[in-house]
Amino acid sequence: MRKKVTVVGAGNVGANCALRIAGKELADVVLVDIVEGVPQGKGLDILESGPVEGYDVNVIGANDYEATANSDIVVITAGFPRKPGMSRDDLLLANYEIVKTATEQAVKYSPNSILVLVTNPLDAMCWTAFQISKFSKNRVIGMAGVLDTARFRTFIAQELGVSVSNVTALVLGGHGDTMVPISRLTNVSGIPLSELLDQATIDRLVDRARNGGAEIVKYLKTGSAYYAPSAAAVEMVESILKDQKKVLPCAAYLEGEYGIKDLFVGVPIKLGSRGIEKIYEIKLQADEQAALAKSAAAVKELIEVIKTKM
Ligand code: LAC
Repeated sequence: MRKKVTVVGAGNVGANCALRIAGKELADVVLVDIVEGVPQGKGLDILESGPVEGYDVNVIGANDYEATANSDIVVITAGFPRKPGMSRDDLLLANYEIVKTATEQAVKYSPNSILVLVTNPLDAMCWTAFQISKFSKNRVIGMAGVLDTARFRTFIAQELGVSVSNVTALVLGGHGDTMVPISRLTNVSGIPLSELLDQATIDRLVDRARNGGAEIVKYLKTGSAYYAPSAAAVEMVESILKDQKKVLPCAAYLEGEYGIKDLFVGVPIKLGSRGIEKIYEIKLQADEQAALAKSAAAVKELIEVIKTKM
């Protein structure tokens, strides 16, 4: 059976997800958006790149979900992006409605799919999709940590003048200003970061990673990042479709792990064909645990707002 992935939202993140999925020949792609013509046009354009690029998958665009039936994965990117000065949280209520509708439609046509959330505020949108879909917790996953660690890794590699492929990093917590890069567990080919950089430099890089999304928004002015976010989402899609069982930091529904309950928060997970196949609960130091609790509290505040709308 051919694999099928639906990407909801034909904006910059969604279109680049579709392009990357096609480029890697991971699956046939259905691009969905409410704007008439845009998903059809971008889908056809991506399809027509195939003969040149050498990929051979089907890509179509649609304004409704009929064509999405029986997707293996539904990636939800639809929503308003940030403008300069806005936090991810400022998008809460507008994007709640969008994600709610997208989830209802995804569930109706692809009841056995895995949902990968990208829309911000990420952790709250995961929670929304989880509640609406009633899917088991292994089948609702949020993309944040892969992007946040990619940024952290980039800055570390730049600082040290080493290959980014040697830098391994871990970021926990919500995808927001309170995210928790764990520099203690970040290393370069096994060498702890603390052996390579002084604390002030590490703090500066952590801060830049934390504000990595805002840094791009400030440059672009009309929207937020999309190349790295789409790359991150597609790494997750690939790990699921190929059952690679990659260990990646993703937003997962927690039921007591790390002392957090009934919330989606970024933690290291094993990602395979069943979605989240394991949540790794690592021992944290007191300051790290406190920072994670603070981040979870920020996510919880958003959930309380959503609950008043449900
Ligand atoms: C970012 C937005 C997409 O981090 O959350 O760039």
